[in-house]
Amino acid sequence: MSNLCVVGAQWGDEGKGKVIHFLSREAEYICRYQGGNNAGHTVVIGEDKFVLHLVPSGIIYPGKKCIIGNGVVINPQALLDEIKYLREKGVDVTGRLFISDMAHLIFPYHSMLDEAKERRKGKIGTTKRGIGPAYMDKVDRVGIRVCDLMDKDIFAHKLKDTLTMRNALLEKVYQRPGLKYKDLYLKYCDYAEQLRPYVTNTSIMVNEVMKKNKKVLLEGAQGVLLDVDFGTYPYVTSSNPSAGGACVGLGIGPNKIDKILGIIKAYVTRVGDGPFPTRLTSSLEEKIREKGAEYGATTKRPRRVGWFDAVMVKHSVRVSGIDSLAVMKLDVLDDLDKIKICTGYKYKNKIINEYPSQTVILEECKPCYEEWEGWKTSTVKIKKYQDLPSKAKKYLSRIKQLAGVPLSLISVGADKDATILLNKNFFK
Ligand code: IMP
Repeated sequence: MSNLCVVGAQWGDEGKGKVIHFLSREAEYICRYQGGNNAGHTVVIGEDKFVLHLVPSGIIYPGKKCIIGNGVVINPQALLDEIKYLREKGVDVTGRLFISDMAHLIFPYHSMLDEAKERRKGKIGTTKRGIGPAYMDKVDRVGIRVCDLMDKDIFAHKLKDTLTMRNALLEKVYQRPGLKYKDLYLKYCDYAEQLRPYVTNTSIMVNEVMKKNKKVLLEGAQGVLLDVDFGTYPYVTSSNPSAGGACVGLGIGPNKIDKILGIIKAYVTRVGDGPFPTRLTSSLEEKIREKGAEYGATTKRPRRVGWFDAVMVKHSVRVSGIDSLAVMKLDVLDDLDKIKICTGYKYKNKIINEYPSQTVILEECKPCYEEWEGWKTSTVKIKKYQDLPSKAKKYLSRIKQLAGVPLSLISVGADKDATILLNKNFFK
């Protein structure tokens, strides 16, 4: 079986949690490669619902092993809370969860800096989980890693240094009180002992597993349009959700990834600020939001909703080398009379077919739409592609044509079973 990388191809919240859980049955290891507890991956199993932020959703499958890679930024309290939450729901992670010793840690000063910065003009609409400031410390080479935390002396030394700098930033730039070293040190030493059993060099581990031909799923968080390089900068997250992020975020070579699956919704949503050319401004936005339960899994913020944007998905397919797409939440469009697809943008009397690099240009872009007839039939119980209404099939085949890659999975409901497989071989 091959190693598959699962990438969000829009602005996150595409339904990666469901797909990862669905595909976990065939995988032995599920590895998260970037982001932090800004993510929210939802899995519905019958009446039961799991919302996970850090631990890969494959953990819900008994016996599956999960890795939190070096590219992830870890808030220890959030991780310990999640382990407890899983245990309370009957999922024991012992011997199945592994944390990279090279992953960077999130500290309270990161969340405080995130929050303080968001209060200023020109905000990004972050989740305020301290993700950006934690990656800032990593790149600034003053970050504190899991391996540092495992050694009290090294940790003490590094925490003193970094805290002095970050307290200065909090106090001088943001007029906020800084944090006390002793309290923070003791709290994190306590976390260290609780996390120690899970800590290892996960790059060695994942490479060994791959050598033995065990199937590995690589799990991205957020989406390509939130990628710090390829997203709508600066309205992005601070990591690389694109497939390339899987290599550096796990310590594997690009030749170890066999296939890349992009996840898209049958429409588009965005939580947080930033340009959104196909956003709906009519009451239809609210209608789709309610039907699709489009509220942030982490922050509960209402998501903005818009029509499917083929320019965006083509961009994601290119920068992530997506081989095939999974289309989620098709059923949310079941009642609509008309459905639109954006095929290009109009900018200053010109038609643009490629996603513009400059956000100021994107802000001025007006979508060029094709209008499709709605199928006005419930798709929620459909199990085979051929049983979908013909108008839904037409809509899907247009998405496939515009994206330039085949579709391999269609989701028509939150439950694992509400899934139509178009190409079983893709997942082998
Ligand atoms: P941050 O990742 O908290 O720094 O937020 C940066 C941007 O990414 C904001 O627009 C957030 O709303 C967005 N974002 C972060 N994580 C997610 C996610 O899991 N789904 C959707 N948007 C996200």
